[in-house]
Amino acid sequence: MTTHKSHCLILPYPAQGHINPMLQFSKRLQSKGVKITIATTKSFLKTMQELPNLVSIEAISDGYDDGGRGQAGSFVAYITRFKEVGSDTLAQLIKKLANCGCPVTCIVYDPFLPWAVEVAKNFGLVTAAFFTQNCAVDNIYYHVHKGVIKLPPTKVEEIIVPGFSTIETLSRIESSDVPSFVVSPEAERILEMLVNQFSNLDKVDWVLINSFYELEKEVIDWMAKIYPIKTIGPTIPSMYLDKRLPDDKEYGLSLFKPMAYECLNWLNQQPINSVVYVSFGSLAKLEADQMEELAWGLKNSNKNFLWVVRSTEESKLPKNFVEELKLTRENKGLVVSWCPQLQVLEHKSIGCFLTHCGWNSTLEAISLGVPMLTMPQWTDQPTNAKLVKDVWEMGVRAKQDEKGIVRREVIEECIKLVMEEEKGKVIRENAKKLKQLARNAVDEGGSSDKNIQEFVSKLVTISQ
Ligand code: UDX
Repeated sequence: MTTHKSHCLILPYPAQGHINPMLQFSKRLQSKGVKITIATTKSFLKTMQELPNLVSIEAISDGYDDGGRGQAGSFVAYITRFKEVGSDTLAQLIKKLANCGCPVTCIVYDPFLPWAVEVAKNFGLVTAAFFTQNCAVDNIYYHVHKGVIKLPPTKVEEIIVPGFSTIETLSRIESSDVPSFVVSPEAERILEMLVNQFSNLDKVDWVLINSFYELEKEVIDWMAKIYPIKTIGPTIPSMYLDKRLPDDKEYGLSLFKPMAYECLNWLNQQPINSVVYVSFGSLAKLEADQMEELAWGLKNSNKNFLWVVRSTEESKLPKNFVEELKLTRENKGLVVSWCPQLQVLEHKSIGCFLTHCGWNSTLEAISLGVPMLTMPQWTDQPTNAKLVKDVWEMGVRAKQDEKGIVRREVIEECIKLVMEEEKGKVIRENAKKLKQLARNAVDEGGSSDKNIQEFVSKLVTISQ
């Protein structure tokens, strides 16, 4: 029987892009002797394809156990009810776990749920906020919280973020490069929640960020003067990075069933670096016009492509697009409803990732060295795309026209640039360099590994 040195209760916001990085972090903690319990909502548990077999998972309530969050009517109503019901049920869970032989000593919570701090403090527990987004994005929200970025920012070229002052390409950024909620007045309440992440951050013991030091040095150094920041990423299963946890193949708690066999079998038939992998993550919805342009851009590029189109998006594909693909002899494209993304990105046939730039996808592309063509849609994605293009120079951004649509010619041109042109050489080389930096960070003695080790040592001391 394993004797655990400490017990961490992990509280992610119930969404694919939040639970996966927190699960991966949990596994790293567990490998260092910490007992882990993940707490998530009953309704979210029901939507998972399979449960993790390496860590235990317990249910709390968001107040919508049967019907799920769709019943709340609005995002704000959901968050408000989750706070009320979640606080009570989280407290009950902590009491229940007091009898498990190794009581909870620490809560690692998603700052989308800042009320967890109060619950933790009531039980005298150590608290760590876990930011699933990168430090640059957190820095922007921090400056909105402080009133330094005035809302809505009006003059396009005059958004100055103090934390970026030492990074030339970020010292003045355009409104199209900041998270969408900062610039769209209709998202006021969502922005309020994001800004609220900082409302009680001065009460926490640790601020963990899913990024790595070498990727965002300047911003991390700036933020570390204010908060006890520790980068712990990239949170990718060990088998794709340092390979120190040989059993760690499990990626996450998928909400969709991946068409693994179809994807990998098809990729195995494609030449090295020949395929464009296309995905817009678990949430983004494209306009039908945009889907059409994308479909033709991919076809016209004459490259092979693997395109993830979630079943809820399928009806927006051009008529007969999938059927015609199946009939073409060259076997140019495959459309699937969900794929095992890490296995795909790791595949030698992949030459470019056309991505919405969700932070998990971006970090996965960095970790596996895949150059990117970015088409950000909303939330933090425009900022991630800016970093990819101008700071890390690991990709290009496809420009929208005045109607907000990225046209087929632009897509075709960008794919060629990333995959074959001389101009794209720097991007391809930088992708390889960043992949190595990501590995170094989590490898034994690397920046993130040291931070995780330090965190665990503190927990163990407290628990003694
Ligand atoms: C959301 C936001 O949109 C994103 O901007 C934010 O940074 C995190 O929360 P999401 O849109 O789902 O996330 O994008 P992303 O962060 O990229 O996460 C998607 C996850 O799903 C990735 O881990 C990716 O590997 C996985 N995925 C995606 C699959 O496993 N299979 C697929 O076919 C597509």
